[in-house]
Amino acid sequence: MPILEMTNVRKIFGGQTVLDGIDMSLDAGRVYHLIGPNGSGKTTLINVISGALEADGGRITYDGHDITDMRMLQTYKLGMARTFQIPQLFENLTVLENTLVATGENSGESYRRAAFHNTWKGDEGRAVNIAQDALAKSKILDKQQIQSDELSGGQSKLLEVAKAIAGDARILLMDEPIAGINPKLAHSIFEMIRTMARTSNVTFLIIEHRLDISLGYADYVFAMDRGKIVASGTPDEIIADKRVAESYLGK
Ligand SMILES: Nc1ncnc2c1ncn2[C@@H]1O[C@H](COP(=O)(O)OP(=O)(O)OP(=O)(O)O)[C@@H](O)[C@H]1O
Ligand SMILES: [Mg+2]
Repeated sequence: MPILEMTNVRKIFGGQTVLDGIDMSLDAGRVYHLIGPNGSGKTTLINVISGALEADGGRITYDGHDITDMRMLQTYKLGMARTFQIPQLFENLTVLENTLVATGENSGESYRRAAFHNTWKGDEGRAVNIAQDALAKSKILDKQQIQSDELSGGQSKLLEVAKAIAGDARILLMDEPIAGINPKLAHSIFEMIRTMARTSNVTFLIIEHRLDISLGYADYVFAMDRGKIVASGTPDEIIADKRVAESYLGK
């Protein structure tokens, strides 16, 4: 059974049809890429899935729930996390503290004491374990005591993933996670994502423009143009697809 399914999803902005009958089906534990030229509706689609925007038609189901009319807080509670181009971090907290905030395990001020191991109580110890496990899976555990505003752009992305995982996310919707990040770190971010999908059964739907770097890490690709899915398939199939080439050339 797919973890996320869309049927005939529509979105209209002031008379302009931006999502024009989207059908998609995603299986758990796989890495999906969503590609397409500027303005084709990619960001709008993940906004509609996550509940940041309301759909104007169609149906979205996630993990057995009809989420079509759910807002972002509700989809988040069901295990769906949406990451942003600019990571939403508490800059004056450390990497570990930022992750602890996301665990939902911490009562009150416990994250503030995270650095002082001898003061942990039962729940706090549990929260720290969850946070450190998420940091390890996201390949940023070695930075746990660093202040978040000292991280590079790429490290901030890793921390964003760690926060989502610490908050029990089962699916991550990511809008251009490697924008502005150097190729070496971009590759390691996608490497981490692929490993996490394989070993923790987390599903990723990733909007990406830098196909030269990203496509090799996708299990399956959806290509959009003008509000429609114009092609879908493995990376090799997508590269060979005439409609994809045409939409990128603007024909
Ligand atoms: N809040 C909004 N109000 C009105 N129109 C919008 C709004 N958000 C997006 N649009 C329009 O919807 C269309 C799709 O935009 P969207 O941002 O989803 O495209 P995109 O594929 O993410 O593009 P890009 O690759 O540039 O990020 C565009 O024509 C855009 O101008
Ligand atoms: Mg966009």
